[in-house]
Amino acid sequence: MAKAKKRYVCQACGSVSHRWQGQCPDCAEWNTLAEDIPATVFSQKHDLSSGGRAVEFVELDAPGEELVRRPTGLAEFDRALGGGLVPGCAILMGGDPGIGKSTLLLQATALIAKSGGSTVYVSGEEAAGQVRMRASRLGLADAPIKLAAATSVRDILTTLGTMEPPALLVIDSIQTMHSDTIEGAPGTVSQVRGCAFELIRYAKENGTALVLVGHVTKDGNIAGPRVLEHMVDVVMSFEGERSHQYRILRALKNRFGAVDEIGVFSMEGRGLAEVANPSMLFLSGRDEPLAGSAVFPALEGTRPVLIEVQALIVRLQSGATPRRAVVGWDNGRLAMLLAVLESRCGLNFSSAEVYLNVAGGYRLSDPAADLAVAAALVSALADKALPRESVWFGEVSLAGEIRQVSHAGLRLREAAKLGFSAGFGPQDSPDSSGLKFQGFKQLSNLVDQVVASE
Ligand code: TYD
Ligand code: MG
Repeated sequence: MAKAKKRYVCQACGSVSHRWQGQCPDCAEWNTLAEDIPATVFSQKHDLSSGGRAVEFVELDAPGEELVRRPTGLAEFDRALGGGLVPGCAILMGGDPGIGKSTLLLQATALIAKSGGSTVYVSGEEAAGQVRMRASRLGLADAPIKLAAATSVRDILTTLGTMEPPALLVIDSIQTMHSDTIEGAPGTVSQVRGCAFELIRYAKENGTALVLVGHVTKDGNIAGPRVLEHMVDVVMSFEGERSHQYRILRALKNRFGAVDEIGVFSMEGRGLAEVANPSMLFLSGRDEPLAGSAVFPALEGTRPVLIEVQALIVRLQSGATPRRAVVGWDNGRLAMLLAVLESRCGLNFSSAEVYLNVAGGYRLSDPAADLAVAAALVSALADKALPRESVWFGEVSLAGEIRQVSHAGLRLREAAKLGFSAGFGPQDSPDSSGLKFQGFKQLSNLVDQVVASE
């Protein structure tokens, strides 16, 4: 039999190399390559074209089982999931350490348990006593959850095999799990993948909804192999700034529903509280308009959310390299917008430090936020406040044009509902809000107007 070639897998991004290197050639992380031991070593002689069983083909419209969803009882969680847990589905829940994943899942598990569903919560990170303490802090100590502190997948599956399959199984976290059939320490790619595979197989065979908690690396990816994301049905991310109170639960992939709905929570002394109407959360609530602040009407799924973008410009006296710092928006996009403002609108940021902050720990990803960011930057540079109670949206192109974005009417209607009186956006936006709307064709038109304003 031919000797199997060794392969090395980056523990951060999952890329494969055929020799060991100190730095991953793909993601440039150091010391992340580890040898990957394949489960079976295939021989060249194996021919797969015979010896198998016939695969059965079915019609697309053949009657199948209907998708039943089990609501968790946390409406915001259910909303992000697309309606609730589907039996047999595997969910990967990612998020920064300390953001509240364990708290959220303990609350959801307790609610299901209290409504009569059987639930198992396996913690590989905390001792059972710690989880119990958290449960009593959350006022959930009386929920009939089956709680265990374990890390061996063999122990877990053996135990599950002796009982009725639960409706929900939570594994907190997949990086702490260990399978004795696979070499390597817990958290390595082959362990994570192998353990996840076994747990998912159990879930599918028994109709148990499975939630795997996954750690997140510095750059926001779920640590360990990307393949984990392919193995599960739903990938969720729990986001927010730890220093802020608000948390957003987002589905990044969902085989059973849409991915554009979010759940909004606030972290309180007694766990996560649901925020049913988040539209005003991310505004600073100031009365007087301030230079450098613009409000962006964002859309999260079907829910409009108004978000304040704040910019601060500090002129440097010396020739030191000016800083650009961004919280809640993309660094590269800020660089692009500054370049457009410089080259198309004649503004000069080259000797100024630029700070950009999205209020409330929110993370903006909608390209329609470009115009609000540009308005905040221009307003900060000119030291002139934008018109009172105004909202700004539109995508900015490299040529300095302002492009149409989706749902302009919906954005404006929500702003009008919340008492805003003026909207600024791309020219020819459909408007049905009763709000005073002004459209811009070029970013330079906006700059002229802000700079000229009183
Ligand atoms: P946790 O769920 O342990 O985070 P993760 O599992 O994502 O690492 O949440 C930990 C943080 O949440 C911790 O810093 C304290 C805070 N917290 C509250 O503010 N209120 C609470 O009721 C609980 C349980 C936690
Ligand atoms: Mg945790």
